[in-house]
Amino acid sequence: MRLSRAELKELMKKKLHRAGLEEEHADIVADVLVHADARGIHSHGAMRVEYYAERISKGGTNTHPNFSYKETGPCSGIFDGDNGSGHVAAKLAMDKGIAMAKKTGISIIGVRRVGHTGALSYFVQQAARENLIGIAMCQSDPMAAPYGGAESYYGTHPIAFATRGQDGRILMMDLATTIQAWGKILDARSRHATIPDTWAIDADGNSATDPFKVASLVPIAGPKGYALQMMVDVLSGVLLGLPYGNKVTSMYHDLREDRNLGQLNIVINPAYFTDLNQFLQNITNMMDELNKIKPAPGFTKVYYPGQRSLLREEESERNGIEIVDEIYNYLVSDVIHRNLYDHKGAFAK
Ligand code: NAI
Repeated sequence: MRLSRAELKELMKKKLHRAGLEEEHADIVADVLVHADARGIHSHGAMRVEYYAERISKGGTNTHPNFSYKETGPCSGIFDGDNGSGHVAAKLAMDKGIAMAKKTGISIIGVRRVGHTGALSYFVQQAARENLIGIAMCQSDPMAAPYGGAESYYGTHPIAFATRGQDGRILMMDLATTIQAWGKILDARSRHATIPDTWAIDADGNSATDPFKVASLVPIAGPKGYALQMMVDVLSGVLLGLPYGNKVTSMYHDLREDRNLGQLNIVINPAYFTDLNQFLQNITNMMDELNKIKPAPGFTKVYYPGQRSLLREEESERNGIEIVDEIYNYLVSDVIHRNLYDHKGAFAK
């Protein structure tokens, strides 16, 4: 089923509102989800609505959160999300960070006590659109083994960065710090397929190729990805006084419990460091130069980070977004599941 961006967003918004989210919050969550689907990041788009709706209906997402925001210094602030939808808190916190960085040159906003925030590219793009640099990182469920370990400690802890060029194109990095997302393991399970031996380990710490034997995911680039996960967990967990490491809650463990996750949003105003126009022009030049790099054997082109997602987004503006029938049928139905995800997840303790 192919839907326009507006149609898909509206269906998701309605379902989330039906589950109990206030309309304004449902609108923001749906906007973050449709952003992901439009960019081809389907793991963080409409396929999540079933789970979010079940959690909302069970009380594990605060439907009427009491958001609070406090500036803690000239360039710092804390946004408390009161365990409402993480997408909403992260977006509003980024708005605060953007306003602050315009005045001070830099802002660092801690987003405390939130649910899942989804694709981080959405939030860093908010800053990039204002001629700023956005950086975001957040905690997620403990499901990655530290390098050399045979059990999970950190999560898939994503990091995102964005800035724009003179011509409006956005240079974007947005990546999980594990080789593969958990969704890819689930996909292999559903197809009864094996997985490459570099993605995950079993309970004894050996490479797992049977997706049913996966006990932990593996960080990107071995010890380097593990070190990045440590940094993300310190900056978005320990720094914000939140549970850290393997004490972070699991997404599918108990859908009535608060997630208490953390995210750190950093905004840098290039105008405080260099000539803004020159900066924007150099970003444009960098993107063009990357595109002109001679491709290696087996490649047709070198893309700048974020370019492929941008191309997919442009394509979905022209031809709509492809949504699998099962998800479409769920979205147009009256169904809110009560027991599809609760206590069902891998790694749930
Ligand atoms: P991915 O593997 O699709 O892309 C990772 C990065 O590689 C991106 O910056 C992309 O632009 C770049 N890239 C990929 N192929 C490229 C190519 N051929 N040329 C140039 N650059 C290329 O992303 P991943 O790691 O699967 O993450 C997916 C999403 O999941 C992200 O939006 C992330 O924020 C989100 N996420 C959210 C979590 C949360 O708890 N909120 C947890 C984990 C991930």
